[in-house]
Amino acid sequence: KEKGWIAEDMCLYEGFWYQPMHGLAGVMFAQEHFQARPDDVFLISTPKSGTTWLKAIIFGIMKRTCYTNSTHPLLTTNPHDCVPFFEFELFKEPPVADVDNLPSPRIFATHIPYSSLPKPILDSGCKIVYVCRDPKDVLISMWYFLAKVRSMELPPLSLEEAVDLFSRGIFGFGPFWDNVQGYWKASLECPKRIFFITYEEMKRDTFVKVKRLAEFLGQPFSMEEERERVVEEIIELCSFGKLRNLEVNKNGSRNPDFKNDAFFRKGEVGDWRNHLTPQMVERLDQITNEKLPSIF
Ligand code: A3P
Repeated sequence: KEKGWIAEDMCLYEGFWYQPMHGLAGVMFAQEHFQARPDDVFLISTPKSGTTWLKAIIFGIMKRTCYTNSTHPLLTTNPHDCVPFFEFELFKEPPVADVDNLPSPRIFATHIPYSSLPKPILDSGCKIVYVCRDPKDVLISMWYFLAKVRSMELPPLSLEEAVDLFSRGIFGFGPFWDNVQGYWKASLECPKRIFFITYEEMKRDTFVKVKRLAEFLGQPFSMEEERERVVEEIIELCSFGKLRNLEVNKNGSRNPDFKNDAFFRKGEVGDWRNHLTPQMVERLDQITNEKLPSIF
């Protein structure tokens, strides 16, 4: 047990840190009960790595023939409601939907580390997209995010405390570096099953990456779709500016602790430069260079 980022203590389970009431129960339940289908799609990430964005993009790619631009669900539904989280929404009491009765292809999201994934997910051969992000930006993003949650129960966490917790691995579904490393190694062994991408690559090269994602998901864009600029439309629909300004992503929330707008802050690469001291950067970079030398 360790004091975590919010009032609740965090605990270690299978080598990773969890808030017992915010995720762990769902992970354990999913490990026991989830029945995978070969055509399931999983978006997996560390928290604050661009999950909301990738949920929207994957949903946009997979469902592109079902809707017209003006009736698209992403215009009226929060990305987290289009692609539910395993541990927070589907395997909790009461679940937001009956997992077994969702139509195929089902799209799920989770932060579960590779070594703790429910076995049927690996056995079924379904597709996994893993997104990660520069840990320094993840840390800053989480620090802001949890300031909103903490304000109700605790004084703000100082940045020094946040860096210390994060560097010691105490972070939901972390250590961050171990979570990324598990999927990185697995993606090298099995690139047809695991598409590994960074937030920074997505930002830098959105068009090419969205096309690659569609190919990986077995739904490549046809010449006609390319001519009709469908790729550009999906990118625009899922862009930070567009999503953040939609009414549905401003106020509502299924979660009583924060509103939907908490998932849209700056949406930029490198905001850590405005916050972290050289000492903090050195401490974080040292771990990254040791554990993930070829990614960041
Ligand atoms: P910042 O806090 O750095 O702005 P997650 O969805 O995994 O919780 O990650 C949240 C981070 O992704 C936040 O980063 C948020 O602003 C950013 N984000 C949300 N939607 C985005 C989008 N459509 N494009 C780019 N970044 C997005």
